[in-house]
Amino acid sequence: MNFVATLAPYSIMFAPNSALKPVGPAADKISHLAWLMIILFLITIVVMAFLIVLPAIFRRGSLEEHDPIDVGGGQTWITVGGFIVPAIVLTFLFVLGLTAMSRFPMHEGRMSSGMHVQIRLTGHQWWWEATYPGDNVTQQFKTANELHIPVGQPVDIELDSKDVIHSFWVPQLHGKVDLVPGMKNYIRIQADQPGTYGGTCAEYCGAQHAKMRLLVVAQSPEDYQAWLEGQRKESALPEGPQATHGQQLFLSGPCANCHRIAGTLAGGTVAPDLTHLASRQRIAANTYPNDKAHLSAWITQAQSLKPQCQMPNLTQFNGIELGDLVAYLQQLK
Ligand code: CUA
Repeated sequence: MNFVATLAPYSIMFAPNSALKPVGPAADKISHLAWLMIILFLITIVVMAFLIVLPAIFRRGSLEEHDPIDVGGGQTWITVGGFIVPAIVLTFLFVLGLTAMSRFPMHEGRMSSGMHVQIRLTGHQWWWEATYPGDNVTQQFKTANELHIPVGQPVDIELDSKDVIHSFWVPQLHGKVDLVPGMKNYIRIQADQPGTYGGTCAEYCGAQHAKMRLLVVAQSPEDYQAWLEGQRKESALPEGPQATHGQQLFLSGPCANCHRIAGTLAGGTVAPDLTHLASRQRIAANTYPNDKAHLSAWITQAQSLKPQCQMPNLTQFNGIELGDLVAYLQQLK
C-alpha cells in the first residue's frame, strides 16, 4: 500500500499548514508567541533533565547514609523555583497572550472603522458555506469550502453557524475564532504570499468534525478578480448528450432539492452551491479529490465516505446515469 497516498487526504492537518509558518500579519504575531512558549518549554525540559541526571551521577552511597539536606535552604529553593519563578513566567505569558488577543477584535463593535465584510462564512455539519456579498445582488454569489482572497490585502470575514458551534482555523493566516449559532463573530485575515492555505474546523462539532476542512486560496488581484467574475456567472450550459442527460437527471432527481445550480431550476439551499463545483480543488469539505471517481463515489456512497453527513447514498442511478451525472458536474467550471 502506498503510505503517502493513504495519508494524502489528511495532509492538510500537518506541517505544510503549520502556525509556525505564518504568511500574514496576525499569524506572524501568533507565531512569535508560539516560538516563545516552545523555547520556554525546551528550557523546562533541560532543567528537568538536569534534575534527573545530576543526582544520579553525583549520588554516592544509599540515601540513608546521607545527612539530612539543608532544610532551610531547600525550602527557599522550593518557594523560589517551584512557585515564584513559574508565577512570573505564567503571568508574563498570560499578559502577552491577552495583549495579542486584544489586537484581534472579533466583535463588530470593536472592529476598526474600516471594517467591511467581504465574505460571510457559515458553518454547517460538516461544511463551510461562503457568501461573497458584492455591491449588488447580481454580484453576490455563494460557494463552499474554498475561499479565494486577494493577496496582500486584509479580508474581513463574518462568521456564524446554522447548527452547532464550529471554529474557523487557518493556522498560517490567523488564530481560531468560533462560529456560533445566532451570533456574529469576525476575523480579519491577510495572506502576504500567493498560495493555498489549508484550514480546518477547530471545535468538535459531531461525527465528521475531522472532515470539515477549508482552503483559502490567496491570488494576485488580477487572478482574484477573474475568479470573482467567473463565480458570479450562471452555471455553464451542458455540452454534449451525456452532460445534457446528466443535467436532466440532476434537475428531476433528489439533487435539486438540496443543491443550487445558478441558471437552472435547482435551487436547494441546505447543501453546498454547485454552480461552479468543477472550479473547486476538492469535494466533501476538502476531504476527497474533485475527480470523476470520487464524485461518483460521493453520489452513491457518501455515507461510506463521510458517515452521518447530510448527503444520502443515491443508489437509484444506474452506471450510465451516474456517468452522465458526473459528466455534467465536471462541466460546472
Ligand atoms: Cu465543525 Cu468541528
